[in-house]
Amino acid sequence: MKKIVCENYSELCIAAADLFEAQLAKKPTSVFGLATGSTPIGLYEELSKRVNDGKMDFSNAKAFNLDEYYPINPTHPQSYKYFMDENLFNKVNFASTNIPNGETTNPSAECAEYDSAIKTAGGIDLQLLGIGVNGHIGFNEPDTTYSINTNLTKLTESTLEANSRFFDDPNEQPRTALTMGFGSIFAAKHILLLISGGNKAEVARKLFEGKIHTDVPASFLLLHPNVTLIIDKDANEN
Ligand code: PGA
Repeated sequence: MKKIVCENYSELCIAAADLFEAQLAKKPTSVFGLATGSTPIGLYEELSKRVNDGKMDFSNAKAFNLDEYYPINPTHPQSYKYFMDENLFNKVNFASTNIPNGETTNPSAECAEYDSAIKTAGGIDLQLLGIGVNGHIGFNEPDTTYSINTNLTKLTESTLEANSRFFDDPNEQPRTALTMGFGSIFAAKHILLLISGGNKAEVARKLFEGKIHTDVPASFLLLHPNVTLIIDKDANEN
């Protein structure tokens, strides 16, 4: 795992955008795996700015998001579809964007189609990941077993609590989600993991031990041959 430590969150976003820009310059038809959450918001702002300034052009590139709540209507302001439209897709000209369908009536067929669409697109070139305070990546929550394929999964209490701030009515917060499994994430040629903020310092420390913690899904990333970790000083405190 290559580690880049940034002074603060804005530097982290610039460094991450530079990696996206380099990937796009190398391969304009790149397939990007994208993430939601508060961590990538500044990166998406920076990418939108670079597109607006004519420095980047995603018109031949494709995007696949990691996950989506289930069930959720894509027009719900807390759906990841809505999040991506607001923060990136309405501003950046991807050839195609893909997010698991949060209102499918057949989740297992939806998940199988999602995996097959990623394969048909040629697999993911650069996979962006955030990390949960509990070490989850995508919605692969700490568990005794981990799914290879995109799947319908239960959210843990820790994740529900971390994300409850976004839902005014707790009854509206979905308790399950559709998420890419470890197979699609690990098949990515390059993984970019972003960790920001003091509340992530404890989970970051576990990654630096150089051991697989079976209850910290992100620690499996230590086995991937091409991971870049960009971390800010607050999260890097030991
Ligand atoms: P956050 O979420 O960026 O909002 O902290 C990350 C995640 O849960 O994967």
